[in-house]
Amino acid sequence: MTVPVTPLLEMKKVAKEYRGVAALKDIDFDLRRGEVHAILGENGAGKSTLVKILSGAVPPSAGEIHLEGRRVQFAGPAQARRHGIAMVYQETSLVPALTVAQNLYLGDEKFFNRLRGTYIEAQQLLQSLNFPVDPTATVQSLGTAKRQMVEIARAVRLKAKIIIFDEPTATLTSEEKHHLFLLIDRLREDQVSIIFISHALEEALEISDRITILRDGLHVITGDAKAFSRDTIVRHMVGRSLTHELYGRAADERAARLPREKVLSVQNLSMQNVVRNTSFSIFAGQVTGIFGLVGSGRTETAKIIAGVAKRDFFHGGDVRLDGSAVRYRTPRQAVGDGVVYVTEDRKGEGFFETMSVAENIYIGQISSRQSPGIATSMRTMRALATSWTKKLNVKALNSDARVIELSGGNQQKVVIAKSLVQKPRLIIFDEPTRGVDVGAIAEIHQLIGALADDGLAVIVISSYLPEILSLSDRILVSRQGRIVAELSPDEATSATVMFAAVY
Ligand SMILES: Nc1ncnc2c1ncn2[C@@H]1O[C@H](COP(=O)(O)OP(=O)(O)OP(=O)(O)O)[C@@H](O)[C@H]1O
Ligand SMILES: [Mg+2]
Repeated sequence: MTVPVTPLLEMKKVAKEYRGVAALKDIDFDLRRGEVHAILGENGAGKSTLVKILSGAVPPSAGEIHLEGRRVQFAGPAQARRHGIAMVYQETSLVPALTVAQNLYLGDEKFFNRLRGTYIEAQQLLQSLNFPVDPTATVQSLGTAKRQMVEIARAVRLKAKIIIFDEPTATLTSEEKHHLFLLIDRLREDQVSIIFISHALEEALEISDRITILRDGLHVITGDAKAFSRDTIVRHMVGRSLTHELYGRAADERAARLPREKVLSVQNLSMQNVVRNTSFSIFAGQVTGIFGLVGSGRTETAKIIAGVAKRDFFHGGDVRLDGSAVRYRTPRQAVGDGVVYVTEDRKGEGFFETMSVAENIYIGQISSRQSPGIATSMRTMRALATSWTKKLNVKALNSDARVIELSGGNQQKVVIAKSLVQKPRLIIFDEPTRGVDVGAIAEIHQLIGALADDGLAVIVISSYLPEILSLSDRILVSRQGRIVAELSPDEATSATVMFAAVY
C-alpha cells in the first residue's frame, strides 16, 4: 500500500468544552486515504466527541479541520456529508416510519417523485453491498444490524470519502460482525477512509491500519496497529497496567456454599414464537449466566419475568417467585416484589435522558419496595446519587450533568445504579457491559459477583461468551426460545457452550 504524503484529513489542536469544562484538549488527528484508523480510549475519553466534531454534529471550541489540504468548517452534519464525511451512528439517524429505500434517498427529491425507480436502485445498491435488506420494508421493522446496513448503504451511495463508525459492533452477532469487517475491507480497497471506535480491542487490532489512543480528553499516541498489543493499548488507555485479571473468577468460593434457595422457577413459559415452552430455575446467592445467540429469546423471557413485556402478547406458562405464582403486568409490580430487569436498550428504556444523573437514580429509588415516599429533599437526592456514582465510578464533566451528557459507557453505569437502588432480590442484567471500557468491565463484573455474595439471585444475559464464562456460577444456554442446556463452570468452555447454543 502506498501512503500519500498529505493526509486526506487533518484535525489540528481541536478542543471541546462543555459548560466551561474540557472534554477534548488540543487534539491532533490525521486520516490517510484508504486507511482504517481506530480511536480507542476509556469511557469518557472523548472519542465520540472527536468524531461528532468531524461529522458536524458538534461544533469545536477551538482548532481546525483540514480536508485535502483545505480548511473546512461545518455548520451541521449535512454540510459535513457534502464534503464526503458520513457517520454511522450507533443509535441510527434513520426515519423509522419510512421505507429503507426512502431513507436511502432521503433529501433527494427527484427520487421521491419516481418511487418505483427508487426501489429498483435501492435494491441494486443493497445487492452490490451484499446486504440482505428489503428496500420496501419500513426501517422500524428492521433489527439493529439491518438498520446499520442501511446507514452504511446510505454513506456508500453518497460516495463518502470518510465513514465513521462509533461502536458499530456492540449490538451485532458474530456473523454480522464478520460481514461488517468484510465490508470495511472492501471500502478500504476502494480508497474510502474509515474511523473505527470500539471497546473490543482485539477487533480494533484486527481491522485497523493505525490506532490513536485518547485519555481524559488528551491525545496519548498514534501509531501503526502492528506496533500495538492488547496490553500496550490498555496501558496507554488507562495510564497504567491493569494488575487484576480482567476476567477474575470469584465464583469458586460461592460454589462451595451449597445448597441454595430456589427463588424463581419458570415452567413451560411461551410467548408467540419467541419464547417456546421454556423451563428453568434461578437460585439465591449465585450468578446464573444465560448465553444464546441474538434472537434466541433470552431478552423476551427476562422481560416476561420482570413485567416489562407488553401484556397484549399472549403468554402461557407458570412463573413462581418463592413458590407462589406471579404474573407481573408492569415493571413496577415486579420491582415491588424485588424483581428488577436491567435493560440492554439503555437509549430506549434505560433512563430519562434529559434528566440529571441524580434525578434518574432517585426515580429508581422511589419505585423501589422500600421507598420512603416522594417527599425527599434535593439534598437527599444528591447524596443518594453521589454515593452510587462513586460506587460505580460514573464520570461526568459536571456533577449535575444530565444523562444525555454522559459518554456511552457512563450512561450504562447509571442504568445499573438506577436498578440497584431498587433493592432487588432477583436482578436480571441484559448485556450489562455493552459499550463499557475494559477497566469498567472488570468493575461491573466485581459488582455483579458481590451482589451474589450478598445473597441476591443474579441472572446475566450476554452474547459475549468470555463474560458468561468468567461470571457465572452456572450457565444456561438458550436456543430458539428455550433453555436447552445447563452447564456447571467445570463443564463450560467456549466450545461446549457454543455447541449447545448452535446445535
Ligand atoms: N452534551 C454534553 N454536555 C456535557 N458534557 C458532555 C456532552 N457530551 C459529552 N460530554 C462529556 O465529554 C466527555 C467525553 O465524552 P465522549 O462521549 O466523547 O466519550 P467517549 O470516549 O465516547 O466514551 P464512551 O466510550 O463511554 O462512549 C465525557 O466526560 C462526557 O460526559
Ligand atoms: Mg462514545
